[in-house]
Order: sequence, then structure tokens, then C-alpha cells
Amino acid sequence: SAPRLTCVFVDHGLMREGERQQVEKDFVAATGARLVTVDASETFLRELAGVTDPETKRKIIGREFIRSFEGAVSEVLGEGADKGETVKFLVQGTLYPDVVESGGGSGTANIKSHHNVGGLPEDLEFELVEPLRLLFKDEVRAVGRQLGLPEEIVGRQPFPGPGLGIRIIGEVTRDRLEILRRADSIAREELTSAGLDGQIWQCPVVLLADVRSVGVQGDGRTYGHPIVLRPVSSEDAMTADWTRLPYETLERISTRITNEVAEVNRVVLDVTSKPPGTIEWE
Ligand code: XMP
Repeated sequence: SAPRLTCVFVDHGLMREGERQQVEKDFVAATGARLVTVDASETFLRELAGVTDPETKRKIIGREFIRSFEGAVSEVLGEGADKGETVKFLVQGTLYPDVVESGGGSGTANIKSHHNVGGLPEDLEFELVEPLRLLFKDEVRAVGRQLGLPEEIVGRQPFPGPGLGIRIIGEVTRDRLEILRRADSIAREELTSAGLDGQIWQCPVVLLADVRSVGVQGDGRTYGHPIVLRPVSSEDAMTADWTRLPYETLERISTRITNEVAEVNRVVLDVTSKPPGTIEWE
């Protein structure tokens, strides 16, 4: 019988280093799901060109996700497409905080449009199925463990759908993505090797692409960009506290990023809780 679920992974070019391979390998190994990968990075970057406003970025990304799913229909159906079959449902992993923050709860303000809720285009052709819509992440993890999913999947730290696109403050460009990807991978590597992943809900690494700062390296002046580390601890992402990371770990991250990423000459630490800050900067 034909499989009734085909997973579509949209690589929008805003992923972290090695992430596409991880999804293609670990996710398929853990679930045995049929996976179709769509490489849409050219389109996303083209649509995001010149855009700096966070809500505009989020809406473009939400819309382009849906356009990518629509574009994948013929590949999902294979021969069925010629026989007039169609795809009726789109299953999304929307969680309750996505709904609340997009202004979807009763009496709640629109804090930011999560790509899969407030960022959806109005002319959506699929019927949405969102089995996790009323659950918080800790509850989703409990469901996952109950279903016997492996810890690499269940315990994975959250990473937002809009990806690095909302962690570059300013226009998203290929060069800036490359800078942020290298800084982010160093931060993740050091946090993991210090054994801190379990204490951290997630640690956005943010590039202040429109801010420049003066530095000195060797005998010369540099004029680079600051990188912000935003480690947070949380139960459900609705509130969060900044994580008190050991100074030695912060020092290693800072030294490595400024040594290894030429465009970055300053690393700063975000010590704001949520509220008043949100977890992501945009
Ligand atoms: P904020 O920044 O609102 O983030 O405090 C709360 C949690 O939600 C994640 N997040 C998103 N996840 N699509 C997602 O799939 C989005 O548009 C989005 N915006 C924020 C964020 O990483 C944090 O875990």
C-alpha cells in the first residue's frame, strides 16, 4: 500500500552547519519516514533580499515554506500525480506557544508571527493537521518518549522554523549567513563539550550585522561585527531565564569565535530574562 505520510524537509538555506545532513540521516533512521528534501535556498534568499523588518521576514518565510510544500506535491505523489491524485492535508508540528505568541489565544497580543501560524499565507490550499497544537514542548517530549522515539530526537533543543533568518539583525545575505553559521557552530561545539546541553533550553547565536565595532588584532585595527550569545533556560518557552554559564566556557567560545571568524571582533552575552526579552532577537 502507498505510504500515507511523506515528510517534506524544506532546506531554506537558513539552517545551521550540518543540520540538513542531520535531519536527512537521524530523522529518517529514527522514524523510517519517507522524506523528500526540497532545496529552496535560492528562492528564500531572493525573497528576503533587502528585508530588515522582523515581521516582514517572518511572513515571507512562512509564505515560502507553504510555496515549497506546494512545489513538492508532484514529487510526493510520484506517478499518482498523473492519475489525478492530490495532497489534501499538511501536517505541521505547531506547538501552543507558537499559537499564543502569534496572537491566537483568547485575549493574547501578537508578540511575533511564528512562521507556521501568524506567518501562513491566506491562500493556503492544504487542510492543516496540527496534532501538537495544544501542547507545550515538555508535553510533546513526554509523548515522544512514550512513543519510543530516541533521545537525540526527543531531547533536541528547539530551533525556530525561520532559522538563522531571524538571528541576523539586518538584511539576510549569503555572506552573513556564512559568518553566523561558523560562530554558531563554535558555540554549540563548546557548549556540548562542556556538558551543558542539558541545562540549556537553547542558545541562539545572533549576528548584529548592521552594527560595527572597532577592534585590534595583532598590530592592526579591525572594524567588524558583534555576535551575541543568548543561552536560556526554560520549561516551556513562555518564560525563560538567562543561563548562568561558567566563565571558562564563555571565554573559550569568545576566544574561538574572534580567532576563527575573521568578521567578528566582539562577543557579547545577553543577560535578559523573558519577559521582558523574548528568546529570539526578532
Ligand atoms: P520567542 O523568541 O518568542 O521564542 O521567545 C519562543 C520559542 O519559539 C521559537 N520560535 C519559533 N519557532 N517558528 C518556530 O518554529 C517561529 O516562527 C518561531 N519564533 C520563535 C524560539 O526559538 C523559542 O524556542
